[in-house]
Amino acid sequence: MLVETLPDYDALSERAARLVSEEIRRRSLRTGRAVLGCATGSTPIGLYRRLIARDGPEAPDFSRVATFNLDEYVGLPPEHPQSYGYFMREYLFDHVDIPADRIHMPDGMATDLDAACAAYERRIAEAGGIDLQILGIGSNGHLAFNEPGSSLGSRTRVQILTEKTLADNARFFGEGETQPHTAVTMGLGTIMEARKLLMLASGTGKAAAVRDALEGPVTAMCPASVLQMHPHAHILLDEEAASALAYTHRDGIAEVKE
Ligand code: PGA
Repeated sequence: MLVETLPDYDALSERAARLVSEEIRRRSLRTGRAVLGCATGSTPIGLYRRLIARDGPEAPDFSRVATFNLDEYVGLPPEHPQSYGYFMREYLFDHVDIPADRIHMPDGMATDLDAACAAYERRIAEAGGIDLQILGIGSNGHLAFNEPGSSLGSRTRVQILTEKTLADNARFFGEGETQPHTAVTMGLGTIMEARKLLMLASGTGKAAAVRDALEGPVTAMCPASVLQMHPHAHILLDEEAASALAYTHRDGIAEVKE
């Protein structure tokens, strides 16, 4: 695992934007396209803002990009302001020249959700797999909406959300808006098949989950700990998110803090 600690959220977002842009350029040059796994939530907003603001030779060429999002609420149509489809249009898709037919979101409105989950897995495979998957981490250690207890080999499926996640995300829902209790999420097994993973974590609220994920045992009780099993996991933390780590992590090795 490559773990980098940046001074603050801005520096973390800038570093993430550079890594994502470079990966899009590298994959586009090599294969003519790049498949990007996208995440929602507060954490990647700074990354998306910087991706759309880059110009000149720095600007990633989204005309060659296909995207797959990690998750979507069950029962929220894409035009609902709290749906992740809406989030992605607001923060990224409406601002870049990505072809609409290359944008993929899990379908939380399908009448047959199981069939829609299986179709999502097929579409990822047909696209040649995900080159770079962007990830956040929940304060309970969830990865996408794979809540504690999720099989480390799980596939795209419907997941019931924990009380902790519902409480963490309640801030996005206004008065009178119903917060869904279930979501469609890529599984941990699906995420682990991406060629590269880039996880971002910011703030003290994530410090304990980051410690458990990076330095604790690999366990379904902390789904993000599965990152320890990935050959190309790059983790970007700000100082606050790194504050509970017992080790310094540098160049892929961990040493006990002095
Ligand atoms: P956040 O969510 O970026 O809004 O903190 C991350 C997550 O729950 O995965």
